[in-house]
Amino acid sequence: MIKIFFKTYGCQANVADSNGFQTYLVDLGCKVVDSESEADLIIVNSCAIRERAELKLFSYVGSLNHYKKEKAYIRIGVIGCVASYRKQEIYERFDHVNFVFGARDNIETFKAYLADIVVSLESTKRLYLDTSRSIRPGQDRDIQGIVEKKHLKIRQKEEHKVEKNDNLEEVRRAFVNIVTGCNNYCSYCIVPFTRGRETSYSIDSIVRRIEREIQLGAKEINLVGQNVNSYIDPNTGASFADLLKVVARLEGDFWVRYISPHPKDMTRDVLEVMAEHKDKLCNYVHMPLQAGSDKILKAMNRIYTVDRYMEIIGWIKEFLPEATITTDIIVGFPGESEEDYLGTMNVVEKVKYDLVYSFIYSRRKYTKAFNMPDDTTIEVKQERLDGLQKRAKELSFERNYRFLGKVVRSLVEKRLPSGKLLARTAGNQRVIFDEKDQNIGKFVNLKIDKIGLVNLDGSLK
Ligand code: 5AD
Ligand code: SF4
Repeated sequence: MIKIFFKTYGCQANVADSNGFQTYLVDLGCKVVDSESEADLIIVNSCAIRERAELKLFSYVGSLNHYKKEKAYIRIGVIGCVASYRKQEIYERFDHVNFVFGARDNIETFKAYLADIVVSLESTKRLYLDTSRSIRPGQDRDIQGIVEKKHLKIRQKEEHKVEKNDNLEEVRRAFVNIVTGCNNYCSYCIVPFTRGRETSYSIDSIVRRIEREIQLGAKEINLVGQNVNSYIDPNTGASFADLLKVVARLEGDFWVRYISPHPKDMTRDVLEVMAEHKDKLCNYVHMPLQAGSDKILKAMNRIYTVDRYMEIIGWIKEFLPEATITTDIIVGFPGESEEDYLGTMNVVEKVKYDLVYSFIYSRRKYTKAFNMPDDTTIEVKQERLDGLQKRAKELSFERNYRFLGKVVRSLVEKRLPSGKLLARTAGNQRVIFDEKDQNIGKFVNLKIDKIGLVNLDGSLK
């Protein structure tokens, strides 16, 4: 049996892509393993969004070189956003990489290629493993020694891994792409160049994927896209709100999140559907702000103003008063003044997000912002980021007090090394509780007893 390992960097669209390829390979008879040392096929899904993500990718791919030496038959591939625009460079830099498949390349061709790899791997692996058995004592001693050593090493790693795996059971989450690509061309963002034009999948195909995931035991369905709320069914013209309605009506014990919507495409009917289907649609909205200054939003080509953004936050609070609200913010965009930054801080203060994902602007090739003059020093940008993160953490801690003493429905995710169980609320807050019986993958009601900086402490109700 061919063992496959995926290393996935970046956003949930990448997670969804990896999930899709995994399911496809499992259908071909492969097994997913959670350590690269066990794998016959390693696929690295790359992210290009910030320079740091790319640096990490290159160093990781470089580090895989020794597996090729240990197991000559192993196949290593790089897919995703970096693979889209640095394909040649990856081939040139890494002799041990067998294939590079970009996020814009044809998926059907790639699937056919994967199917081929699986078949050829089966025979080369067998050949490689059989070599040791076919060697008679005294013959080719050196080769035999090397092969035996390799076997021992591989076997030891596998045995070790099996032991470790015993307690690592985790709830099944599904990531389903509903839209791929992006037409927005935010001036800082490389995604439209790496992933290409926006395309929605049909509701029928999405529903089939979800039903299959539910059959396989998934308890959390994440609907994923660079811009989910510009979704439009290519067959029927149904909107994102329509899609949510259909998904919410599917049978089963699961809940649904979506990420990421764009403020410019937000409509009230999406929130209306969420309010109607609270049992299935999580009380959670991720609404990327990026910046709290009209001047910077314009330079970013975000299409909305701060006032419009605040109006949308008002809608969320109107339809879903208890909702968890999270956001993405970039600091240090070219031309960001102290006043612009204070504008961002002002929005953070007003909205009181549950979680802020914040980043220093990273200059990306091909984007419009690449050539914008930028005279803010990296030290000032870092200070702005630190200031934002510190305040955001305080505010989110204060917000968590709304849960104190309340009973909250949560999904049990896994057992922690401490022996306690970790669950998540619909808003993705972490709740830790003590329980001997294995409850992983179940929905439970937890009373929140204590608020911590990272976790809430709860008890079974
Ligand atoms: N620099 C920093 N952050 C970026 N993001 C996207 N492009 C860049 C960039 N060039 C952030 C945005 C986006 C999130 C996924 O990543 O905040 O919402
Ligand atoms: Fe990038 Fe903007 Fe598209 Fe998001 S909406 S993927 S930030 S271009």
